[in-house]
Amino acid sequence: MNIITSVSEMQQKMISARSAGQTISLVPTMGFLHQGHLSLLEEGRKRCDVLVLSIFVNPTQFGQGEDFDDYPRDLKQDSQFAEEMGVDIIFAPENSQMYPQKYATYVDVEGITDCLCGASRPGHFRGVCTVVSKLFNIIQPHSAVFGNKDFQQLAVIKRMTCDLNMPVEIIGLPIYREADGLAMSSRNVYLNNDQRQQALVLSQSLARARKLVASGESDCAVIISNLKKDINQKAEARIDYIQICHQLTLEDQTDVDADSVLLLAVYIGKTRLIDNGFLVTNHD
Ligand code: PAJ
Repeated sequence: MNIITSVSEMQQKMISARSAGQTISLVPTMGFLHQGHLSLLEEGRKRCDVLVLSIFVNPTQFGQGEDFDDYPRDLKQDSQFAEEMGVDIIFAPENSQMYPQKYATYVDVEGITDCLCGASRPGHFRGVCTVVSKLFNIIQPHSAVFGNKDFQQLAVIKRMTCDLNMPVEIIGLPIYREADGLAMSSRNVYLNNDQRQQALVLSQSLARARKLVASGESDCAVIISNLKKDINQKAEARIDYIQICHQLTLEDQTDVDADSVLLLAVYIGKTRLIDNGFLVTNHD
């Protein structure tokens, strides 16, 4: 396995792989890998000859006062995991490689970036779309694997690749959870024991919403107000948003149907956690 930090070296390697007829799959991450990331690598491995893992804590997707400086990093541990998962190349550029001086170009997807995480984190998806576009241009993968954990991110990236005719297949995979239901996240390390327990309120809200739907409740406002009551009882929890949206448009719904996804973002202490899932079909 190679670790490449230079954009031009990465580009050269990928051009050679393509001209040798090899297929390339990319799993973009910000590192500090957990089982959720590894499930993406496992899927990527099946789909290509050359599996690339990118590790880059992308400054342009963090807002002021967010956790860019504190974001957990551990390239050594990540490399071990990557080796075990059969990754061929880790692409781990420095900031100055991705955003050299005079850098001035950004990718903005309109509409579906205005709501949910886009509303709470202005500029976040502009940063995500910019870095993912750059990774696609540098690596030119045939496929790229993402998680449903970041449901809106996946929808935005699908929109971008379609709108900009990017020749890459976007694959979305289910949320990987801890045994007690907490969605795995690199940010879970910020939680102390008590907060870790209270963080279960996200997946429990999803389970409660599914139960309400299964028992005949279809009014989104009623479901959301039930969940809000539960979450607000947790001392450390502060709701950022809790919405039921159409899976493709991400527009708010009034009544639950087969396209309904519950999306929540809740601060547990200072840590902002997200979770989501379909309400009728019972899968993440
Ligand atoms: P990061 O948060 O590191 O996540 C990398 C990929 O792992 C994303 O596609 C995310 O949805 C997926 N993922 C995270 N937790 C998961 C879980 N519990 N189960 C399944 N998949 C999970 O998302 C980003 O990085 C960045 O925004 C990035 C796309 C790399 C652009 O900088």
